[in-house]
Amino acid sequence: EKIPCEIFGNSKEGSRYVAREIADLIKQKQAQGQKCVLGLATGSTPITMYAELVRLHKEEGLSFSNVVTFNLDEYYPLQKDAFQSYWSFMHRHLFNHVDIDAANIHIPNGSLPKSEVKNHCLQYEQMIADAGGIDLQVLGIGNNGHIGFNEPGASIFSKTRLINLENSTRIANARDFQNIARVPRLALTMGISTIMNAKRVILMAWGLKAPIVAKSVEGHVTDQVPASILQQHNSCTFVLDELSAAEL
Ligand code: GLP
Repeated sequence: EKIPCEIFGNSKEGSRYVAREIADLIKQKQAQGQKCVLGLATGSTPITMYAELVRLHKEEGLSFSNVVTFNLDEYYPLQKDAFQSYWSFMHRHLFNHVDIDAANIHIPNGSLPKSEVKNHCLQYEQMIADAGGIDLQVLGIGNNGHIGFNEPGASIFSKTRLINLENSTRIANARDFQNIARVPRLALTMGISTIMNAKRVILMAWGLKAPIVAKSVEGHVTDQVPASILQQHNSCTFVLDELSAAEL
């Protein structure tokens, strides 16, 4: 079944729409005295949406005091304080600018010794479960259809784990590193099943991603296009601009 899409004239309008839905959920949970558990993504796609959340915090008093976050992924190995880490990214674009409690922020730790990684991944899943599951998961999409760092072939049953990055993904992400050789070959990522367990999923895509967006929204459901599995989620929306929606 086709994934529902919201199409906007540009990424700024799409980003505002997503930030508004997130803000409404945070406020709804606040009114009920509950935590709001967000699954968050990195990459260039969500930057404008995070800027809009920061604006809502500063100008409209949106509070993150009840927000708990779980990020999708992190490079491995990489120190937290490296500029390229997703830990740094999230602090730079969102966490440093809002009133979130540091204890409520969860990001896979890319700096553990290999012997501790398996246990860390199990703990990460347990923390999500203990938080009551993810209320809303934000996603971007890779050119090969990856979500988080679940590359083509990732099992629908996969949970948080260490994976090998495809070379195409390393090349796409090389802009943040001095050269391709410095892009880590591994990453920690939530699994497809972790993502599918979120109560609500919003995938954003802007610009030159029309072919992979079309395959994901209306192509065959296949593990070769990880985002196509979202066709089987009962509350998933793709938020697109005109370019990324061009082949629908
Ligand atoms: C990265 C991230 C994904 C992201 C994707 C697209 O590798 N791990 O979560 O969705 O690639 O990146 P961008 O938003 O820069 O196009």
